[in-house]
Amino acid sequence: MNRTSDFLVIGSGAAGLNFALKVAEYGTVTLITKSALDESNTNYAQGGISAVTYPPDTFDKHIQDTLICGAGLCNEEVVRMMVTSAPEQIKQLVQWGAKFDRDKNGLYDLAREGGHSEHRILHHNDLTGAEIQRALMRKVKAHKNIEILEHYFAVDLITQHHLGKMVRRYNTDVECYGAYVVNLKTQKVGTFLAKATILATGGTGNVYYNTTNPPVATGDGIAMVYRAKGVVENMAYVQFHPTALYHPNERPAFLITEAMRGFGAELRTRDGNEFMQKYDKRGPLAPRDIVARAIDNEMKNRGDDYVYLDVTHKPADEIIQHFPNIYKKCLSIGIDITKDLIPVAPAAHYMCGGVKVDMNGQSSIRNLYAIGETSCTGLHGANRLASNSLIEAIVYADKAAKHSLPQLKDLKIQEGIPDWDYEGTTRAEEMVLVTQSYKEVQQIMSYYVGIVRSNLRLERAFARLGILYKETEQLYRTSTLTQQLCELRNLIQIGYLIIKEANAIRESRGLHYSIDYPPKKEDIV
Ligand code: FAD
Ligand code: SIN
Repeated sequence: MNRTSDFLVIGSGAAGLNFALKVAEYGTVTLITKSALDESNTNYAQGGISAVTYPPDTFDKHIQDTLICGAGLCNEEVVRMMVTSAPEQIKQLVQWGAKFDRDKNGLYDLAREGGHSEHRILHHNDLTGAEIQRALMRKVKAHKNIEILEHYFAVDLITQHHLGKMVRRYNTDVECYGAYVVNLKTQKVGTFLAKATILATGGTGNVYYNTTNPPVATGDGIAMVYRAKGVVENMAYVQFHPTALYHPNERPAFLITEAMRGFGAELRTRDGNEFMQKYDKRGPLAPRDIVARAIDNEMKNRGDDYVYLDVTHKPADEIIQHFPNIYKKCLSIGIDITKDLIPVAPAAHYMCGGVKVDMNGQSSIRNLYAIGETSCTGLHGANRLASNSLIEAIVYADKAAKHSLPQLKDLKIQEGIPDWDYEGTTRAEEMVLVTQSYKEVQQIMSYYVGIVRSNLRLERAFARLGILYKETEQLYRTSTLTQQLCELRNLIQIGYLIIKEANAIRESRGLHYSIDYPPKKEDIV
């Protein structure tokens, strides 16, 4: 039930699988994941993965596009490192079996998305994430040094706190020794110790009701780090994807990739009028924050639940060839995208903030790395450039692997860590106490802390979340540990962090837009 290994990797998306493969030749790896191995945001990614491939594209153009999109909050050194490291990491992915589409001359068929000045998105039809996930899983499953544990849920990180010592945030001496992990089939909690722990737990989309993220995206890694007194930042910058299919009650919301706008699709109000030019001269290919806000504004002004995405002017065979998965999905609900307009609305999509890390993926807690969406590297600033996240996960998996391997010989497995304390936590409460609070968190966040915010809305959200926090902590102290209860607790923590940081920002910037701080005239394109 307990485990000891050189590396404990938590999460099986692009970041976790990549890291495991990069270190497995040199040490033992325990890779845990809370659902099936392939259930991750990675598996749902559609548009592709950005990297400079051919002229006229250049590193400088990709860097500039990323900086412009990030609205002044990117770390330029990080952006340069990421952009220049990307091509080599793509090469490795291809060597490991990932296939990206090529044209009839054998060159990569590069797509374009919002905020990109060039065609630079490598893709596999409109199922790029699933292709990357497939290729990585095949290699991971075949590696003798990697133990894969599906349906194992990380509850909390283990630090000196569990040895009875005081741990304070912003102290630089907090150390991570592993994690307490619950086997979801037996409900028993094990002590998983490691020399280095790698959080690759992905995003936070489920803190909102309407999200493109699968149910596993509940911000567990970020919440665990915050509880362990690690540093978390930029949580106010939540990215809403402008075009999720409007199909009420389908969860997660099915994405209509931005690559479709790169291919020429237009946005229209329900009466058929194009509206994006009114908001930005880049039209439907403006950065995501601008497009999502424009749609939100049109919907609110007109009292509509959706707008339309229109690709009907493009040749039908090309539409089907580029977007076979979207074509099939829409057809299954009676929409033929070669002839019909597609109803779309924005949905929570990506967390730009997260566990603060340095350029090696090291968090503020020793021997704890955070990679992929759960981390905040400084790449995205106040708004992520489309298709920059898969590549970030992969580049940082490489950085963290290269940084952790030389340390391995000097690190030890910590002794004396107590087993999980079940005391007082044996009462099985009614599930409705958890499920109803889960819905309430999503409602509070969706109505008060969404695409457009205000001081008053944030204040209300904070007060209401405070009530849920107290009730849930009480429940956690007394009732049986379940995945749903842990996730609820984590989502409340995430909501709190988003509101706390949003409250502290006295301006509208990137993804944080407040009606109390309208953007300055010179910032409007
Ligand atoms: P994930 O792939 O989300 O993996 C997280 C893993 O951690 C999962 O296996 C999960 O089960 C596990 N986990 C979480 N908590 C725990 C816990 N407590 N215990 C154990 N395991 C846990 N980005 C792009 O660059 N290009 C795109 O085209 C693109 N399209 C997207 C389309 C959709 C619909 C979505 C949702 C996202 C898209 N993104 C895209 C974003 C991108 O997919 C993610 O940011 C990226 O895949 C994150 O990878 P990751 O490895 O960090 O996390
Ligand atoms: C998309 O395909 O539109 C998603 C791309 C991304 O989230 O980077």
